[in-house]
Amino acid sequence: MSNLRPVTVITGASAGIGVALAHEFARHGHALALVARREDRLRQLADEIAATGAVKPIVIVADLTQGDAARQIGEALAAQGAEPQFMVNNAGFGMVGLAAARDRDQQLAMIDVNVRALTELSLAFVDSLERHRGGLLNVGSMAGFLPGPGMAVYYATKAYVLSFSEALHSELKSRGVRVTVLCPGPVPTEFAARAGLSSGLAPGLLTQTAERVAEAGYRGLMRGDRMVVPGLANKLVTILIRIVPRRLLLRMVDSRQSRRRSAQRT
Ligand SMILES: NC(=O)c1ccc[n+]([C@@H]2O[C@H](COP(=O)([O-])OP(=O)(O)OC[C@H]3O[C@@H](n4cnc5c(N)ncnc54)[C@H](OP(=O)(O)O)[C@@H]3O)[C@@H](O)[C@H]2O)c1
Repeated sequence: MSNLRPVTVITGASAGIGVALAHEFARHGHALALVARREDRLRQLADEIAATGAVKPIVIVADLTQGDAARQIGEALAAQGAEPQFMVNNAGFGMVGLAAARDRDQQLAMIDVNVRALTELSLAFVDSLERHRGGLLNVGSMAGFLPGPGMAVYYATKAYVLSFSEALHSELKSRGVRVTVLCPGPVPTEFAARAGLSSGLAPGLLTQTAERVAEAGYRGLMRGDRMVVPGLANKLVTILIRIVPRRLLLRMVDSRQSRRRSAQRT
């Protein structure tokens, strides 16, 4: 048994769903390590959580496009006498627009964060997750269920997150490590503005708050669920997506994204 204290590591904890997940885990008594690039935001969140009487979270400033996230996070935790019990891979971003027209380097950076870093951090700490009877929560998206013309690379990264996490769920079950993929629909966060959607996300039937999404993700992970799609309407849509012919789905997403692009131009 290790003498290191168990913590929940949350990437992308400086905004949106990551902040809500940090509050949710803290509320249930987990000690935290918060990871993102914006240090001021992380320190402010750590102070807020400490002010509730919880253990003050460890702050780790890291850019997940930089290839050595696991080493950096592992070393920062070890320096504080800690190691992961739960790993929450939440950091991610999207880009709206035609893939061939958008900046290639930025799209590859999206793969670095949404896929490469998520994979590295999913695999790097499995022994520690097992030692502490913990698990892995990977934030995918409803976008992972279908191809996404107009946001092609983003949708493809989330299809990877879904497939990879479901497979890991099965592989790590015998070791007692829980693996859950959380697949939200639209959530009002900084995501839309960062993706280049100047109009933001129009509220709709599928929209959920970051807090609701975090609650559902936490509950699912603790239960050992393979996948969590927060919201009843969202669940129904993911079932429909699996029935509707792919050709039709492509056309539907394409026309929705084209309408968005025209609205942006006007
Ligand atoms: N909002 C939605 O509608 C929605 C729907 C489905 C799934 N999701 C997924 O939910 C997750 C969280 O998104 P959100 O909606 O909360 O978006 P957000 O408000 O934009 O937050 C994204 C987080 O990711 C971090 N991040 C981005 N690039 C990073 C990098 N290179 N290195 C380290 N951290 C990085 C950001 O931190 P820094 O900028 O400080 O580094 C921030 O904390 C993402 O994986 C997203 O794909 C979102």
